[in-house]
Amino acid sequence: MANDHSKRTYDSILGMLSSEENPTPLVRLNRVTPFQHAQVFVKLEWYNPFGAVKDRVAANLVRDAEERGILGPGKNLVEATSGNTGLGLAMIGNAKGYRLQTPLSMAIPLEKRTVLRFFGAKVVELDDTLCPAPGAPEGAIARAHDTAKADPTTILLDQYANEANPDAHFRATGPEIWRQTDGKVTHFIAGVGTCGTITGTGRYLKSRNPGVKVFAAIPEDGHDIPGVRSRRQLKQTKLYRPAEYDGDVEVTNQEAFGLTLRLNREESIIAGPSSGMALAAAFKLVPDEPGVVAVVICPDNIFKYASSIVRHFPDLGPAELPGALNAPVGPTKNEQFLEAMIENLKNPYDSVAVNALSEEMAGAAKPLVVDVRPLDQFTDLHVPGAVNLPQSELAQRAGELPADRATPIVMVCGIGKFSKPTTLFLKSMGYRNVRSLKGGINEWVRKGLPTEKR
Ligand SMILES: Cc1ncc(COP(=O)(O)O)c(C=O)c1O
Repeated sequence: MANDHSKRTYDSILGMLSSEENPTPLVRLNRVTPFQHAQVFVKLEWYNPFGAVKDRVAANLVRDAEERGILGPGKNLVEATSGNTGLGLAMIGNAKGYRLQTPLSMAIPLEKRTVLRFFGAKVVELDDTLCPAPGAPEGAIARAHDTAKADPTTILLDQYANEANPDAHFRATGPEIWRQTDGKVTHFIAGVGTCGTITGTGRYLKSRNPGVKVFAAIPEDGHDIPGVRSRRQLKQTKLYRPAEYDGDVEVTNQEAFGLTLRLNREESIIAGPSSGMALAAAFKLVPDEPGVVAVVICPDNIFKYASSIVRHFPDLGPAELPGALNAPVGPTKNEQFLEAMIENLKNPYDSVAVNALSEEMAGAAKPLVVDVRPLDQFTDLHVPGAVNLPQSELAQRAGELPADRATPIVMVCGIGKFSKPTTLFLKSMGYRNVRSLKGGINEWVRKGLPTEKR
């Protein structure tokens, strides 16, 4: 079965990539627009198969590299990204057999970093000092270059310099807008990151009608809008071509996030922060005149930006965050947990003598005995019924401990020296009833108490 865009039936997920025949939606705004005459349309780029405008770029970078013969079987990818290019490349890579590694700033939203890993990408998280702001991964760009240099099978497509980036928009985004507006588009507005969107789409629209005005939305210095670059940060991209645009304007964090909220609440359009930013620029630059048809790019949707929302609108965070609406009176769950942990740690090494443990083991309320010696020593001999969680593996295997933090537990080692700090570790996890066996298994044996082999 071939792709049938009219029925939205595709022969593979890659068939969903947008094109003139299969455009992302263009939706007119009706409520948040301040204009009387000018019409403003938003282009909803999360309708691309992997959720963002960057899917177009990722697909075109890969196609171009394959056609040039630098990418093919046995090769893998490395790319510095503020997230969306990585998400697109990871998925196109999954479909075509290329693995992606992506160095990125810790300032990139946790949601994107986590999903990148979920998609199978190797995420190299870099210190923020290397990558001063979201969307400005200077350190990450340098790291990607180093990685590609060190390993010739790892290909850097370099969205910051590769003409296949704007070309993706020249081939599709521009023609889509031209067709969707029946050639009536008069203004095009996009936020700038790599500048692929504005440069490629702008070029196409001007090729059809040189009178189309192309405007860049630029975030203020020190912004925290993922995916876009301030004037200072724009130096890092080779695709910023201000001579080809008709103007630009700076948008503050507050304007961007404020309009993003309004888009969601008043227009029911689930756009993310860089969409609010581009729209704010459109409202500043587009003239309110009859016949004006402005198109604004909405790069992705709001669902990746929960952590940005909470930072900008603390009242919308979960009830435990400071300043939250409906915050419970009294200590929060986190505070209660911390208090319990500190109380626990004040009494660090509760211990139990071998005879006392032996009596407890004969009774109804047997404690769980956890032997923290290496497996071979445990196999030789141990307290009957004990489980083995070697000290060196305790942190990784802590999930094997009972979920109920009230369970009585006795930690056992050779002579009682190593089991002591492990009680502290369990207490730090919230276990309230943990003790260490005084004298360890040596003392247990010396007293002639029964043992077990495995
Ligand atoms: C969310 C978001 N908005 C805007 C942009 C900017 O697009 P471009 O890189 O084409 O300038 C990006 C690019 O990474 C992005 O991820």
